[in-house]
Amino acid sequence: MKKQILLITGLALAFNGNLMADAIPAPSEGEILFTQKCASCHSITRPKDMSTVVAPALMGVMHHLKISYPNKDKAVTFIKDYVINPTKEKAICMPKKIERFGLMPSQKGNVTEEELEVIANWMFDNFPPKNFRGMGQGKNFKILRVR
Ligand code: HEC
Repeated sequence: MKKQILLITGLALAFNGNLMADAIPAPSEGEILFTQKCASCHSITRPKDMSTVVAPALMGVMHHLKISYPNKDKAVTFIKDYVINPTKEKAICMPKKIERFGLMPSQKGNVTEEELEVIANWMFDNFPPKNFRGMGQGKNFKILRVR
């Protein structure tokens, strides 16, 4: 009996190990942290059901953020500050997003500065995805402030 259990465990481990190596790339630390700390509000994928959305999706956030902050260092600094001290004046998203969702609640106490550094770098490096076509790129879209 014991031998069988060991064998099964061994097989399961081997199978798992294979899967990890071949099919699913291991998620990065940034992705894991974002999933834990931010994804309850910011969807990592394009939301399917808009009626349940409580905040702009990550690809939309980064699309707008990179228009105002094309420089990575400045973008990362902005994200680290905004997550702890969000204000209407600082916000780069379209004003109608704040009207719709309200200002983001400060995540102070929910995320450390070190974690935010990792999260913000991951956000900048991976979003928006290459095939992203946002709304707001039409003729009515104005770039308000580039910083
Ligand atoms: C409780 C829900 C909630 C959580 C959790 C949350 N956010 Fe937000 N976030 C919002 C909402 C709502 C907005 C849109 C309004 C605004 O910009 O303040 C927003 C906007 C943003 C913006 C755009 C800011 C701007 O200039 O308009 C960034 C960047 C952002 N969030 C990053 C994060 C990160 C990083 C985390 C995780 C550490 C996080 N958020 C967790 C609700 C949330």
